[in-house]
Amino acid sequence: MPETTRRESSFGRSYARVGPRMDARGAAEHRRRLVAPAHGFVIEIGAGYGATFPFYPSTVSSVLALEPDPTLRALALAAAGKAPVPVTVREGVAEALPAADASADVVVSSLVLCNVADPSVALAEVVRVLRPGGLLLFYEHVRSAHRLLGAAEDLLTPLWARLAGGCHPNRDTAAMIAGAGLSVQGIERFGFSVLPGNPRLAHVLGVAGKS
Ligand SMILES: C[S@@+](CC[C@H](N)C(=O)[O-])C[C@H]1O[C@@H](n2cnc3c(N)ncnc32)[C@H](O)[C@@H]1O
Repeated sequence: MPETTRRESSFGRSYARVGPRMDARGAAEHRRRLVAPAHGFVIEIGAGYGATFPFYPSTVSSVLALEPDPTLRALALAAAGKAPVPVTVREGVAEALPAADASADVVVSSLVLCNVADPSVALAEVVRVLRPGGLLLFYEHVRSAHRLLGAAEDLLTPLWARLAGGCHPNRDTAAMIAGAGLSVQGIERFGFSVLPGNPRLAHVLGVAGKS
């Protein structure tokens, strides 16, 4: 197995253990609020073990959930069977969405844009598949606005990205979303400590629209 693939699947196994602990500390509630405006045909990128699936509202007709990691994808498949709306789980990456131009009403990204290798490519794909008036719903951890914390995140990022499946703690994801041509219609910024004893990392939860 190539080194990168081995690291990614080891991240998948770790995240399957850690994610539910984050959910219990408040991430589940963030996800519930994230997908509350979802409707119609939804594409969820990097769906992980399917932590958002229980919260999709009945305004959603179907979800195409993409997940590259095999361990997480198997868990997502099991979660899809219990979801309140139809969810199809497929292997896939945000940089090459298996959907036609202007075909999606909503794209959901929950803690994923920190992980993708090139967020500008992923966001260009999001813009391509969204119909005019479509929405990107995002929940992401981002670079701290605090000067020293932000600098510490910059220093930590190369090592952290190797250990944590490519996660970049120093991305200004909201600016990248705006830079991709989506208009940020609402954004909430808050600190969230994902595990006991961990520092509160800057997070954003918001909605961006395609005109
Ligand atoms: C921190 S986990 C978040 C999982 C899930 N969205 C959640 O909220 O629990 C990051 C996810 O991004 C996925 N991922 C990594 N690179 C990706 C890519 N290029 N395209 C789509 N998903 C990717 C990982 O496999 C993992 O499931």
